Amino acid sequence: MELNKDIDQFDIPLAKRTYLNNPNSILFKKLFIFSPFLLLIFSVAALRFNRNVELIPLNNLKFQVERNLDTRILGHLPYNETPKEKLVLIEPNIQVHMDMRDSLLKMREEAKKDGIYLVLLSGFRSINLQNDIFYSLKSIRNQEAAERARVSAPPGYSEHSTGFAIDIGDATQRETDFETDFENTDAFRWLIKNAAKFHFKLSFNKDNKYIDYEPWHWRYEGSIEALKVFESSNRKS
Ligand code: DAL
Ligand code: ZN
Repeated sequence: MELNKDIDQFDIPLAKRTYLNNPNSILFKKLFIFSPFLLLIFSVAALRFNRNVELIPLNNLKFQVERNLDTRILGHLPYNETPKEKLVLIEPNIQVHMDMRDSLLKMREEAKKDGIYLVLLSGFRSINLQNDIFYSLKSIRNQEAAERARVSAPPGYSEHSTGFAIDIGDATQRETDFETDFENTDAFRWLIKNAAKFHFKLSFNKDNKYIDYEPWHWRYEGSIEALKVFESSNRKS
């Protein structure tokens, strides 16, 4: 008994253990248990906030990049000049890209069978020639660049320099050559109905905002090279 009394002197008083029921410690315990969930919630919230903050400038950047990638000048896309080795003569003064030759001649033959006489007016034009056409005509006609560009591409921006473009007339109505009136010829009506069979497409239709309607100007899209050349134009139009 005497010994127990002594031991009691050293025992931790019961009151000192009541801290476990302290309301603060219960809160602490709960926080500790839920801390992984809280961490998760905070992380998700932080990520969402971060994404929203980042999205705004990214959208602006995308818009800027798209604008900068639009390399058009006065509504015309840039085109390289096709190397001479890829050009073939199909008329005394008309060269075209070798990929397009057979299809173009076949189209002319098929039209003839239907009583339609297509005339080939202009094919490949070098960038130098396009330079002369653009600047001399612009000067002779006292036109501003934007005005001239409605009917003629600036040098380096003409489909004719690729060798894949061809201007076509009606042999029975030569007065409509290079005129909007060409659309009222049998040749044009035949082309609208049949040109796609030979992989030709009208380049400048009535919807174009910058370039005048050219019913006589067709481009060839019947080879991978031609499709690559006109990829940008097809994507943007
Ligand atoms: N006439 C067309 C636009 C050209 O010059 O290529
Ligand atoms: Zn043309």
